[in-house]
Amino acid sequence: MTTATADFSTRLDQTAEDTEALLAKLLSDTLLSDEIARPKRLMDAMRYSSLGGGKRLRPFLVVESSAVFGVPRDAALLAGAALECIHCYSLIHDDLPAMDNSDLRRGRPTLHKKTDDATAILAGDGLLTLAFDIVTRDEIHSDPTVRLLLTRALARASGIGGMVGGQILDLAGEGRFGDREPVDVARLQQMKTGALLRYGCIAGAILGQSTQQEYQALDDYGRALGEAFQIADDLLDVEGDAAALGKPAGADAALGKTTFVTQLGIDGAKQRVRDLLARADSALSIFGAKGDVLKAASRFVADRKS
Ligand code: IPE
Ligand code: IPE
Ligand code: MG
Ligand code: MG
Ligand code: MG
Repeated sequence: MTTATADFSTRLDQTAEDTEALLAKLLSDTLLSDEIARPKRLMDAMRYSSLGGGKRLRPFLVVESSAVFGVPRDAALLAGAALECIHCYSLIHDDLPAMDNSDLRRGRPTLHKKTDDATAILAGDGLLTLAFDIVTRDEIHSDPTVRLLLTRALARASGIGGMVGGQILDLAGEGRFGDREPVDVARLQQMKTGALLRYGCIAGAILGQSTQQEYQALDDYGRALGEAFQIADDLLDVEGDAAALGKPAGADAALGKTTFVTQLGIDGAKQRVRDLLARADSALSIFGAKGDVLKAASRFVADRKS
């Protein structure tokens, strides 16, 4: 293991632990001002799907892109927790019978299996709205303009031109809404998965009030990483096993999803991941040694088994 890789795992573990503690606090039963009640069934469902699992890669990207600019860790962790709430909501809805119809997530029954569809839909809605509550909080940054930019970027990454838009393209590509349309896999994946991962990378530049050149570098890195991440996920769906993945394998083929694995074959998809990693590395060159942990993160994305 190289120093950068060892450092990477320690840092990922630490951010995962800190994010878990922060999410537990944000999802406690304590009422915030203007809240009337926190219904138990809703809170239990939201906690079930956001605590006790997940690699926490998105908060890690926020924390590490922020560290490049010396942003206080607590502020970065809050922004990371907001992003993780959006991610967990996207997984709950992605697993619903009306979408990928999946029974297993993070090694446990999916939320709708554990409870029911209505509870799962509402827990997703609760996490989505909580994310925007968190990302606008005063503790994130003293300058309201910075908070506004961070919030707007999160909305764009999550919504029509980002994750939600990508999810509908993904379903359309299965032929869900009539004839199967030709699929632009790169675009679909940049939206459904890439947009949230890219947000994790530009969040540090926004919080750190970086130069335009630094922002662009993290933007380029985040785009390459995001694309590589989804191709690796599609490869794991073919080559991985449910026990290690904590979610079903072979699900994409069963649903008739179009991916780079179906379009390029396994070797072609792996080559594309390698090309993306090279792009991600070269985007970070302007940061010198400060970019080493993020470089290790892109290697982790490509080599991961879960
Ligand atoms: C899974 O994301 C969903 C995709 C975007 C492919 P992760 O692999 O990051 O899931 P967790 O958070 O670690 O469970
Ligand atoms: C999920 O893509 C993307 C989002 C949740 C937005 P997948 O459908 O491939 O994710 P998994 O494989 O179920 O985790
Ligand atoms: Mg899906
Ligand atoms: Mg899915
Ligand atoms: Mg998948």
